[in-house]
Amino acid sequence: MGVLYMELRPLGDTGLQVSPLGLGTVKIGRTLQVKYPRPFALPSDAQVVELLSLARDLGINLIDTAPAYGIAQARLGRLLPGPRDQWVIVSKVGEIFENGRSRFDFGYRYTIAAVEESLRQLRTDYLDSVLIHSNGDDVRILREEGVVDALERLKERGLIRSHGISSKSVAGGLEALSRLDLVMATAHLDYDDERPVFEAAERLGKGVLVKKGLASGHLANRGVEAAMRHVFSLPGVSAMIVGTIDPDHLRQNVAAAEAALP
Ligand SMILES: NC(=O)c1ccc[n+]([C@@H]2O[C@H](COP(=O)([O-])OP(=O)(O)OC[C@H]3O[C@@H](n4cnc5c(N)ncnc54)[C@H](OP(=O)(O)O)[C@@H]3O)[C@@H](O)[C@H]2O)c1
Repeated sequence: MGVLYMELRPLGDTGLQVSPLGLGTVKIGRTLQVKYPRPFALPSDAQVVELLSLARDLGINLIDTAPAYGIAQARLGRLLPGPRDQWVIVSKVGEIFENGRSRFDFGYRYTIAAVEESLRQLRTDYLDSVLIHSNGDDVRILREEGVVDALERLKERGLIRSHGISSKSVAGGLEALSRLDLVMATAHLDYDDERPVFEAAERLGKGVLVKKGLASGHLANRGVEAAMRHVFSLPGVSAMIVGTIDPDHLRQNVAAAEAALP
């Protein structure tokens, strides 16, 4: 175990306890159609094991993944060091990334089948959370599609422990807070548009996961600690998900998070 170790905190009212820094897994599964500053190659299996073991040793228990992240779920299923109950695995549903393109399905039947497939890929019998992987049409999806009912059903069956949305709008984030357990929203030093969602989540005691807190890496040259200080100063934040495949960056991020936490 390293000197640094993340202290767990509640993910809203889900009963789940998460490290304030979570590990994003886009870059272990997909290289196409991503918004990172530099091109990259997928890490080898050995590198993924090293990264996941390091994350665990630094006290990170929160892993964010999705079917749309290429082979990320399958690799986690094979390579995530045990035991299972030490990890909080968050996946998503609704976005399908195939042949370099995304398409979306938020129907009831698709949602059930896709989550069952995620369980197979991840080689587990439950997911800690499944988020609607929104295409931006948040409110319509929440009101008109079958996905919310399907996630409720999956929760009743014990296959998922909580549900939420990775939202892209204030209206969608707010709507989700009344129907789902948590929201994954974007915030960083140059983007504050979704603040009303954070404020409402804090009032309601709901969990918020922050995505793109480093603006997909574009903010790193302005100081990771400054970026994290900003994110952790926002109301309602449970954890910040940062994607990295670089062990040095992971260590640096844990140190920065420790320094930045209020
Ligand atoms: N649900 C959604 O719709 C959605 C959308 C986007 C993202 N996400 C989730 O949120 C996670 C994070 O989002 P993101 O990957 O777009 O953005 P991010 O976490 O803001 O940035 C990731 C980028 O920052 C770089 N980075 C990380 N730590 C660094 C450090 N200490 N110094 C320099 N560069 C550093 C990484 O490169 P290195 O690998 O070189 O460290 C990577 O290219 C994703 O992995 C995913 O799990 C979800």
